[in-house]
Amino acid sequence: MRNLSLLFILTKILLFFLQTFSANDSMSRFQSLSEGKTLVSAEETFEFGFFSPGSSEDRYLGIWYKSIPVKTIVWVANRANPVKDNSSMLHIDSEGNVVLGNQNGTVVWSVSTRKKVLNPIIQLLDSGNLVARDEKDEDPENYLWQSFDYPSDTLLPGMKLGWDIKFGLERRVSAWKNWDDPSPGDFSWGISLEGFPQVMMWKGSKEYYRGGPWNGLGFSGAPELKTNPVFEYKFVSNKEEVYYTYNLRNKSMITRIVMNQTISTRQRYIWIEEAQNWRIYASVPRDNCDFYNLCGSYGNCIIGDSPVCQCLTGFKPKSPGNWDMMDWTQGCYLTEQWSCEDKSKNGFVKFSGLKAPDTSHSWVDERMSLNECREKCLANCSCKAYANSDFRGGGSGCLMWFGDLRDIRDFSGGDRDLYIRTKISESAAKEHNMKLGAIIIIVASVLTVILALYCVGRKMKKFRYRAHEPENNMMVENNEEDEKEDLELPFYGLAVIVRATDNFSISNKLGEGGFGAVYMGTLADGQLAIILADQAKGKVLDWSKRFNIICGIARGLLYLHQDSRLRIIHRDLKASNILLDLELNPKISDFGMAKTFGGDDIEGNTRRVVGTYGYMAPEYAIYGLFSVKSDVFSFGVLMLEIVSGKKNRGFSHSHNSINLIEHVWKIWKENRPLDLIDSCIENLSVLPEALRCIHISLLCVQQHPEDRPSMSTVVVMLSSESALPQPKEPAFLMEKFFPKADSSTKHQFSSTNDISVTMLEPR
Ligand SMILES: *[C@@H]1O[C@H](CO)[C@@H](O)[C@H](O)[C@H]1NC(C)=O
Ligand SMILES: *[C@@H]1O[C@H](CO)[C@@H](O)[C@H](O)[C@H]1NC(C)=O
Ligand SMILES: *[C@@H]1O[C@H](CO)[C@@H](O)[C@H](O)[C@H]1NC(C)=O
Ligand SMILES: *[C@@H]1O[C@H](CO)[C@@H](O)[C@H](O)[C@H]1NC(C)=O
Ligand SMILES: *[C@@H]1O[C@H](CO)[C@@H](O)[C@H](O)[C@H]1NC(C)=O
Ligand SMILES: *[C@@H]1O[C@H](CO)[C@@H](O)[C@H](O)[C@H]1NC(C)=O
Repeated sequence: MRNLSLLFILTKILLFFLQTFSANDSMSRFQSLSEGKTLVSAEETFEFGFFSPGSSEDRYLGIWYKSIPVKTIVWVANRANPVKDNSSMLHIDSEGNVVLGNQNGTVVWSVSTRKKVLNPIIQLLDSGNLVARDEKDEDPENYLWQSFDYPSDTLLPGMKLGWDIKFGLERRVSAWKNWDDPSPGDFSWGISLEGFPQVMMWKGSKEYYRGGPWNGLGFSGAPELKTNPVFEYKFVSNKEEVYYTYNLRNKSMITRIVMNQTISTRQRYIWIEEAQNWRIYASVPRDNCDFYNLCGSYGNCIIGDSPVCQCLTGFKPKSPGNWDMMDWTQGCYLTEQWSCEDKSKNGFVKFSGLKAPDTSHSWVDERMSLNECREKCLANCSCKAYANSDFRGGGSGCLMWFGDLRDIRDFSGGDRDLYIRTKISESAAKEHNMKLGAIIIIVASVLTVILALYCVGRKMKKFRYRAHEPENNMMVENNEEDEKEDLELPFYGLAVIVRATDNFSISNKLGEGGFGAVYMGTLADGQLAIILADQAKGKVLDWSKRFNIICGIARGLLYLHQDSRLRIIHRDLKASNILLDLELNPKISDFGMAKTFGGDDIEGNTRRVVGTYGYMAPEYAIYGLFSVKSDVFSFGVLMLEIVSGKKNRGFSHSHNSINLIEHVWKIWKENRPLDLIDSCIENLSVLPEALRCIHISLLCVQQHPEDRPSMSTVVVMLSSESALPQPKEPAFLMEKFFPKADSSTKHQFSSTNDISVTMLEPR
């Protein structure tokens, strides 16, 4: 017993001396790192110790900058395994493993070193790398373990992003779940080894942004990565390693790249000494065109164009209807198919200034010339395109694509040439003819449409009125209004032209008859409208279809508000104005009430309120003020209906007769939003998405227009998982807001028909 305590005291003394006199940046087998102690790198650049992220009280072991006042964590050891108290300790065990353990011996986090050495130590380097090595061996090649091999959300200078193929080690950066929780989110960044290696960002297992393959000078998807005064970069690809890395030009600079789940963005920050703050230097995705394969196969994303997706020259949309509604996922196809047998009739067309398509089905030979590449591609019927693999010094090497060409965008001014296989013979002459022909047809069609509109306009209007008359006995019409209507005619004429010419771009066949068909079609096909309120038919729409419809409508509306050259406010968005095609893709129809605005006008005032109760924003229903935000309101109502499978109007609740918005708000406040989701939706895994839709709906139906998000924000909210703001109390658009006359029409509602109401604003 005595001996034991003597031994204990001796050990303590030994430990004390070791701790006091050994370097402060490292720790040996006889030391431990506990709460309150830290390792600090030799030049005091980085510090390693315990911390709590954000507002969390959990304890993590991590590395942060020692040299700057803003605590910035760059690496976390036990990211998915927090410690709940202050009792844990880091030590090196007798096997040489680095272990973070609890007081009671539970291992929270540990690393096993590659081999056993006599005197293992861990040391924090000035690069921010925490390494385990033999005390006497400083050669990086012989490190037993290093934190740089297991990145958290940050890529520091000198870290390698990518693969150590020899050890089967992937170094991939993954975002924190959120500010309070460093455990890995689903947003990550690394290098895909499939086909020809390329830099990729993923959301879960799905590609999110593709930096593209290395072409000797830079990444094909990141033209802005250029020689710069801050850092130099390189890409290494051989049998043992494939990685990207960057290093500081001036060691006194501080920079880092970080993945951020909350905003689904990867950002490079630079520390600004004067401002004592981080500043964003670069950020991806930069724009819409950076979203992976936004325009589908053979679609080209051109950020300055409207809409952004265009088929490559010689290609046409596979699904013209969807393409029109800004659903480009199905991409384009080659109008003139080449046949592999007839070698004389197939060749290549050169495209310049494009981001190289996805190389996951590619093959490369660094030694071949461009001519050899062409021959090799021509000889293999699966080869769809080729290019130089290396753009340095005029170009060298051969990169060939098999399978469809995906994720293309326009980088005008780029000098990268891509040769796409096509039917060659008449193609040169054809291209010229096609352009000329197209211009003539466009001019002719637009003229025809305008003419037709003026002629049909009056008839059409009458037709519309008649169509509504039987259901609507409160419609006010007088001569004054008639004149007004006539004045407005060119407005909705334009809306139809936009639509018609859109159709033109995909069908190429639109003439007078085509125009008539389009317009009449939308009126005549009204009964195709979404079926939601019908319990039996409601089953047709499973969640993915509903969500698809929601996204389709959102994109369509965004297109009207923003991407079409004229801003168009629909003013009568409702379920019965959404037509579904056979594949249940939504189309927004009935532009009879649409208003167009040039340039920046975003709000208007009308004496005539047209639209449908239940979908109308309060400022529009009551004051006749309409804007893109009143459409957003209608969209919110529509989305609630789609998610809940219930109609806003005619919504009945067993206890009291409140409307759907009020009902949703009540349930939301009571924190049981699950009650809102259509019972037809059985798959539990879709719940988060459905709940998110309800949340977004509530943001759309907020009382004040300025609180409602714009459609572009809605589209982003629908497609991301970022945190959403809390909705304010919605406008309960109840019957009591309206003139008495309305309640008399209420009884006439059939379950399948909403009515459009035309009334004069009371003066
Ligand atoms: C290293 O030195 C710092 C002060 O510079 C001190 O706070 C810390 O506890 C020391 N760490 C160890 C492991 O001794
Ligand atoms: C743990 O340590 C931190 C920092 O020293 C301190 O803020 C926190 O209150 C401690 N927690 C407990 C449970 O002791
Ligand atoms: C050890 O402590 C942790 C918390 O500090 C606790 O969760 C765990 O149950 C304990 N294990 C044992 C075996 O006592
Ligand atoms: C992500 O970015 C947001 C917005 O810039 C910021 O508030 C948040 O702290 C960032 N998250 C992390 C984990 O750094
Ligand atoms: C590095 O940056 C510091 C401060 O910005 C500057 O004083 C120094 O001259 C730079 N060194 C080199 C080699 O450019
Ligand atoms: C064409 O290339 C693909 C991909 O390299 C290969 O699998 C296939 O065998 C080739 N076909 C011919 C006929 O060479």
